[in-house]
Amino acid sequence: DWTPDQFIESTVAELREQIGNDKVILGLSGGVDSSVAAMLIHQAIGKNLYCIFVDNGLLRKNEFEDVLHSYKDMGLNVKGVDAKDQFYTALAGLTDPEAKRKAIGKIFVDVFDQESHQVEDAKWLGQGTIYPDVIESVSVKGPSATIKSHHNVGGLPDYMKLKVVEPLKTLFKDEVRLVGKTLGISENIIGRHPFPGPGLAIRILGDITPEKVAILQEVDHIFISSLKKTGLYDQVWQAGAMLLPIQSVGVMGDERTYERVVALRAVTSVDGMTADWCHLPYEFLADVSNEIINKVRGVNRVVYDISSKPPATIEWE
Ligand code: XMP
Repeated sequence: DWTPDQFIESTVAELREQIGNDKVILGLSGGVDSSVAAMLIHQAIGKNLYCIFVDNGLLRKNEFEDVLHSYKDMGLNVKGVDAKDQFYTALAGLTDPEAKRKAIGKIFVDVFDQESHQVEDAKWLGQGTIYPDVIESVSVKGPSATIKSHHNVGGLPDYMKLKVVEPLKTLFKDEVRLVGKTLGISENIIGRHPFPGPGLAIRILGDITPEKVAILQEVDHIFISSLKKTGLYDQVWQAGAMLLPIQSVGVMGDERTYERVVALRAVTSVDGMTADWCHLPYEFLADVSNEIINKVRGVNRVVYDISSKPPATIEWE
């Protein structure tokens, strides 16, 4: 039978054999998969693993600093890269969700490529690919995509020409979490909700500005910390807030206000493919809504998303 201890022991031995004295580069995202992959490779080869953690300016409030700190505590050889301005510049004026995703992907590749050149003579690219990712990319992209990327090899960023090492390729998410726990990775990383690569950019409907990011970070922070404080966080598969591209009328004292609307979303799910909206307690929602409206300037209305997937998706973009 599969046990995390056995998996770790045999995987670390295999990685050591496979990689030898080579250098490996790995992009950390703050999520479970890349963190666990990094710790496994770290156990095998130590300082020859070079981790890169990019701040795209679209993470949750304080997330970059907090997670970078955790990574260092874990003993990882990690470089934090502040690329916020590059991402904001590339996103300026873009409103189409796919255009935003493309812009973010392109800047990420540029930044990662540049950073990976700082690691002389790297031979491998470490990735946190898990089993469902493998299946998904086969069924979604099909063989023609494989052929296409093969033809495109000359045009790929340099780091993509590295040999790929993916120690979690046979595992499901719950197994990855078990392995992470056994490796001693903190609950703060292992237990965290999924978070999309494009981050808050696809939770700000319409164009992205640093000001909107700051507002959404505050709103999201109130929502997520309240979930944690009340013990609801672990019962929810994923939660977050959306900044809507509309304003609505409100009243404050004798004044009429005309300010932003945010939507809160919390779902239960097994794999993200289908999801139900969480029936969070009314009292909880009332407290969160009050706190947001009282504390976050520029927001005068909070709504709660009661749509399930399908037909609604988890993200709004
Ligand atoms: P949807 O919105 O499609 O989301 O129901 C399902 C899961 O995927 C995440 N998601 C993304 N993750 N890049 C990512 O890395 C993306 O562009 C992206 N879009 C959605 C979403 O957060 C949810 O967990």
